[in-house]
Order: sequence, then C-alpha cells, then structure tokens
Amino acid sequence: MMATMSGSGGYSGAVRCVAVAPAWHVPDLVEDARAGLLEPPRSLPPKYFYDAHGAALFDRICATPEYYPTRTEDTLLRQYGDEIIALTRPDCLIELGSGSSKKTKNLFDACERQGHFCVYAPFDICEPVLVEAAGKLQADYPWLNVRPLLGDYHAGLANMPHYPGARLFMFLGGTIGNFTPPEVRAFIGDIRRRMQRGDFLLLGADRIKDNDVLHAAYNDAQGITAEFNLNVLQVLNRELEADFRADKFAHLAVYNNELHRIEMYLVSGLRQEITLGRLDLRIQLARGEQILTELSYKFDHDELETLLEEFGLGVIRHFEPDNHYFSLVLAQSG
Ligand code: SAH
Ligand code: TRP
Repeated sequence: MMATMSGSGGYSGAVRCVAVAPAWHVPDLVEDARAGLLEPPRSLPPKYFYDAHGAALFDRICATPEYYPTRTEDTLLRQYGDEIIALTRPDCLIELGSGSSKKTKNLFDACERQGHFCVYAPFDICEPVLVEAAGKLQADYPWLNVRPLLGDYHAGLANMPHYPGARLFMFLGGTIGNFTPPEVRAFIGDIRRRMQRGDFLLLGADRIKDNDVLHAAYNDAQGITAEFNLNVLQVLNRELEADFRADKFAHLAVYNNELHRIEMYLVSGLRQEITLGRLDLRIQLARGEQILTELSYKFDHDELETLLEEFGLGVIRHFEPDNHYFSLVLAQSG
C-alpha cells in the first residue's frame, strides 16, 4: 500500500491526512547527524528547522519588513491568480512544501470567481502545520476538496495518490533555492516524471539582486531569522539527547556573490564539547567553527526558463514584479 491514513493526529475537522511513504530510504536525524555533524565541515539538512516552533518562527520571518519573497510572491499570485487558473483549469492543485498555504489562497479566490471547483493536495513533512492549514482552508473554502499529504515531498513523489484530470504542481516560496544544483535537477526531473502531458508546474524562485537587500532578508533587525536558525539546536537536543546551548552559538547568514547563494551557519562562540546522547558520542567544536544549516540559491530570469525547458517543460508565463525581485514561472509538460 503506497499511501495510508495517518493514525496520529491526522484529524482537523473533516480533513484527514494521508501519509505518503518514501520511495527510497530517507535518512533520519540520527543518520544525518552522523553524516554531517561529526567532523568539519559540519552541516545539517534544512528540513529539521520545521518543528512546530520552527514553523511558527518561519511564519514570523515571512512577516518581517526585510523578508520580501513572501510578500512579493503573494502579490504576484493575487495579481495573476485569475490568469493562472484560467490557463490551467486544474482538477487538482498539488503543492509541494505547502507550509501554511497562505499565499495559495489567492488561487482558490480565483477559482471561486471563476466557479472552478478542484482538489487541493498540500504535501508537507510538518504534520501540525499541515493539519492546521488544511483544516482552515476547508473551513474557508467549503467547495474545495482538501486532501493533505504528509511526508517527504521528494521521496514521496512516486507514491502520491493518483489524481485524475488536469494537475497543477506548485513549488513556491523560493524553496527550490534550498537545493544544490544537482538536487534541483533531480527534483525537477522527478516532478516531470509524475506529470502527464498538459499538466502544469508553477515554480516560485528568488532572483539575484542587490547584495544588501539579500543580506537584510536573512538578517532581520528583530532577530527572528537568528532565532529560527538557532531553534534547530533545540530540535537536536530533543531528538538526539544533545546538550547544545543556543547562547553559545551565533546566527550567520552571508551572500556568496560567486555562487549566487545565501549561506546560513551556526557559529560556535567558543571552544566547546557537545554530547550527542543518542549517538553515544561527544564532539569538539572550535571557537568560530561553523555548522552549515541552509543554502538559499538566487536565480537569473533566463536560467529559470532554461532549467525548466531542459526537462521538457515549456514556459507559458513568467511573472515578476517591476523590481525583478522574484519569479513565478508557469510551465507546461509537452
Ligand atoms: N511554501 C510555503 C512554505 C515554505 S517553507 C511558503 O512559501 O511560505 C518550506 C516548507 O517545506 C515547510 O513547510 C517545511 O515543513 C516543508 N518541507 C521542508 N522539507 C520538506 C521535505 N523534505 N518534504 C516535505 N516537506 C518539506
Ligand atoms: N526557503 C526560504 C528561503 O530560502 C526559507 C528561509 C527563509 C530560511 N529564511 C530562512 C531558512 C532562514 C533558514 C533560515 O528564503
């Protein structure tokens, strides 16, 4: 059985989560910590940011004046929502890494205006956020058939339930930037393999721009991004029986101009020893030593179109604001 009903907490009102099994082995935190934390250069995959507290902090990042991507993408979806729905007429919208699904509401508003009913399958790994978002959407849009999918959106792609009719896949928020270039290609290729002729992909991606604007977006004055980055240490403490202390680390986010990416680190403020109870290990961190927690690549207008076309996805529309801060690209599989 590829998809099963989730037993725990998958209920919110009438909405039930479907757990989607990964098609390949997805390392757990113990394995990722073994692979990334034991020796320098140290790193952790970014998916561990999103425990319930991390997800709430991410929502607050999105509302900071410095973090322009959310607002910009929201405006584009509001502005072009009618055009997107009129062009795609989806029977099902499948959103990968949907989070709070807030921006996607613009598309449901457009559906409502056009009397177009459909299924919405938000696919996310963070159960509390997914369940809450799905429950709210179902209450706000009673005509919408909300079918939340719980699991890893990459490893789970091949095991998703089949949705008949025209599908619109969505990957928003610039999350594509959190993959390395080879990962991006593997991911787009796997989405493409799930698409039937005529299906659509709507991709939101952050653009290369003034370094100061980028720097500020990941170093907000209120320190919420710092708190979000440091919160991953609490996840490690809880899941690995570790003893990281947030006050012994600093948030560092720098823009790498050659590689067009923000690099996010946690920097050890002093020489310290950390116990990883579940690994039965201690690690020594030097003063100033960095743990890489996330990369956020920024893209060029044409690079995005070339990327999609490489996979046989024809670009139909490329929406961007006047300042070119963010791209929303609509492509169709041929
Ligand atoms: N699309 C939303 C949320 C972006 S944050 C927006 O634009 O605001 C990234 C989201 O992806 C989070 O909700 C996180 O829980 C989810 N996520 C991260 N890694 C994932 C994975 N491997 N599988 C499924 N969901 C994942
Ligand atoms: N995908 C978002 C981005 O790269 C996630 C994000 C925003 C983020 N701010 C962050 C991730 C700070 C880690 C730390 O823009």
